[in-house]
Amino acid sequence: MSTINYSEKIPNNVNLADDRTLQRALEQWQPNFLSWWGDMGPDGSHGYDVYLRTAVSVDPGGWAHFDHVKMPDYRWGIFLSPGEADRKIHFGEHKGEAAWQDVPGEHRANLRRIIVTQGDTEPASVEQQRHLGLTAPSMYDLRNLFQVNVEEGRHLWAMVYLLHRYFGRDGREEAEALLERRSGDDDNPRILGAFNERTPDWLSFFMFTYFTDRDGKFQLSALAESGFDPLARTTKFMLTEEAHHMFVGESGVSRVVQRTAQAMNELKTDDAAKLRAAGVIDLPTIQRYLNFHYSVTIDLFGADQSSNAATFYNSGLKGRYEESKRDDDHRLTGQSYKLLDVQDGKLVEREVPMLNAMNEVLRDDYIKDSVAGVNRWNKVLEKAGIDFRLTVPHKAFNRQIGTFANVFVSPDGSLLSETQWAANEAKWLPSAEDRAYVASLMGRVAEPGKFANWIAPPAMGINRQPIDFEYVRFD
Ligand SMILES: [Fe+2]
Ligand SMILES: [Fe+2]
Repeated sequence: MSTINYSEKIPNNVNLADDRTLQRALEQWQPNFLSWWGDMGPDGSHGYDVYLRTAVSVDPGGWAHFDHVKMPDYRWGIFLSPGEADRKIHFGEHKGEAAWQDVPGEHRANLRRIIVTQGDTEPASVEQQRHLGLTAPSMYDLRNLFQVNVEEGRHLWAMVYLLHRYFGRDGREEAEALLERRSGDDDNPRILGAFNERTPDWLSFFMFTYFTDRDGKFQLSALAESGFDPLARTTKFMLTEEAHHMFVGESGVSRVVQRTAQAMNELKTDDAAKLRAAGVIDLPTIQRYLNFHYSVTIDLFGADQSSNAATFYNSGLKGRYEESKRDDDHRLTGQSYKLLDVQDGKLVEREVPMLNAMNEVLRDDYIKDSVAGVNRWNKVLEKAGIDFRLTVPHKAFNRQIGTFANVFVSPDGSLLSETQWAANEAKWLPSAEDRAYVASLMGRVAEPGKFANWIAPPAMGINRQPIDFEYVRFD
């Protein structure tokens, strides 16, 4: 039951062969996906043999197979986690009713919107990262980039399956549109802000996979609670793949920090100019990159008060992070939540109905989770005997969405005038000069076991292979 059928054109564990109409529709979408991959997937890499993992089962004990494959031959497919017998909706106004195996008519438009918004982020990140392979700091890192890319492609498949299978003609149209929008395009951009930003260098890539893929984890976790069972099952399996994406980010930043700390100790300096002359990334620049990616990513959770978010929860479409582990009534009517607001030139807490604050609830859980990894980066500094500590900026810093969109707040949470902000912005966010310096370090290192000067090697290889394994064979 849990093994995936690889003899089919579209590997799957959803008995696609029994539904000829759906199978044909997806087989028509497949060449469009491949042509999108050809145009917008990793630049110049289509002929490489890459040591990739491919999902072959949804059994947590042995779900992946590792081998060298050319990316255009990757077996993207449709894999749902096993269903639970008699699963019930466990939150919102339908709590206690049987989970939906089909789309409930009254929630159709909202469900489609949720699926399209999630689906849109998947190809967007592939587009954002498509030139990074040309400047990978090692073969090991190049392989990790490609692994993330092919799996984001599969996450697109996961959402497209739902659109085709459950939403008829408008679902098919949405599936086409997912291949037509382009990250950063003026006329037809991706849906969410952070997915239209550039990911121009590897420090940005590691910050993106740490912070923005973690937004993915929280969105997927909330959808894995959904009363719409196929959505819950497919997002649950996507989370298995997502863990590696965040690992790439966390270990990537950690290795950059480690290398910088080593250079600081060798040169006995914290002077940014001297460290840059030595070809490593000074800690204040790493902090500015962190500030940028963190603030742009927490915007993805949406407005702090949202009637849509209330509807999504109340109708059982999107739960909270770890909904089933919480011991409250899972309906939340009559409960309140504390939000930050701006009043008389000050940041103050204000209580609002919890249902309207569901975006903020998820954002706050996300923030707790992000901080944990930043503390692990600080352990590297502590171990090296360096006093500098990385921190996440205040939640109101550099926000474009919600209450703080029109105010200026410093990383430590002080409200500022626009002039004060402008005078300090270059201290807090990557300047053109920072970006140019980081860009100047980027150059492909493609020999097995060799690493660019600005990053430390990883502690171990992938799938118990040695660090100097030939993770990518160039043609
Ligand atoms: Fe994804
Ligand atoms: Fe991801």
